[in-house]
Amino acid sequence: MSIRLGDTAPDFTADTTDGPITFHDWKADSWAVFFSHPADFTPVCTTELGRTAALKDEFAKRNTKAIALSVDSVEDHKSWAPDIGEVGGTDLNFPIVADPDHMVSELYDMIHPGEGDTSTVRSVFVIDPANKVRLSLTYPKSVGRNFTEIVRVLDALQATDKGPIATPVDWTPGERVIVSPALSTDDAKEKLANVEEIKPYLRYADAP
Ligand code: BEZ
Repeated sequence: MSIRLGDTAPDFTADTTDGPITFHDWKADSWAVFFSHPADFTPVCTTELGRTAALKDEFAKRNTKAIALSVDSVEDHKSWAPDIGEVGGTDLNFPIVADPDHMVSELYDMIHPGEGDTSTVRSVFVIDPANKVRLSLTYPKSVGRNFTEIVRVLDALQATDKGPIATPVDWTPGERVIVSPALSTDDAKEKLANVEEIKPYLRYADAP
């Protein structure tokens, strides 16, 4: 099943390194970054999960929980965890879902047969407090993801939820935002500070 932006993230119950969880209950009213990796004891995955552990405080500041998945068993995840801590410098501090029967990875369309085998590709879903899917990314097995970008996307999504705005290319917090095309410049001046019209369709403002 393919999952589109705006869909409700499918709920599931599965075994994880933190014990059995039911996803929506575990997530509760947080944001979540739910991401798959191809296999335990593989080099790129070890760096990705290490980086995710090191970002725990950054995720917490954004009311966000991380959760990973591969088709390996929970015993394998637990045996691999010390390597993640050693390589990334922070002990594993988020759950890894065990999905040996592919129940969750098929629900989230994380197995792409054209990518070589029946392990999961590098999928990422950013899910909001109302359980809506707000972003999806798919990377091949050979390319590690940029978790700084995932944190930036959380910032951008949370900023755009605050007002009638969008974020321009390469935006980071503290930079000016773009007025929603749905808003006239006059209306924008009532709702946002320092509105500047570059083109009739391109107006900048301070972030709300
Ligand atoms: C890795 O995590 O290093 C990896 C896993 C599967 C294919 C290629 C690389």
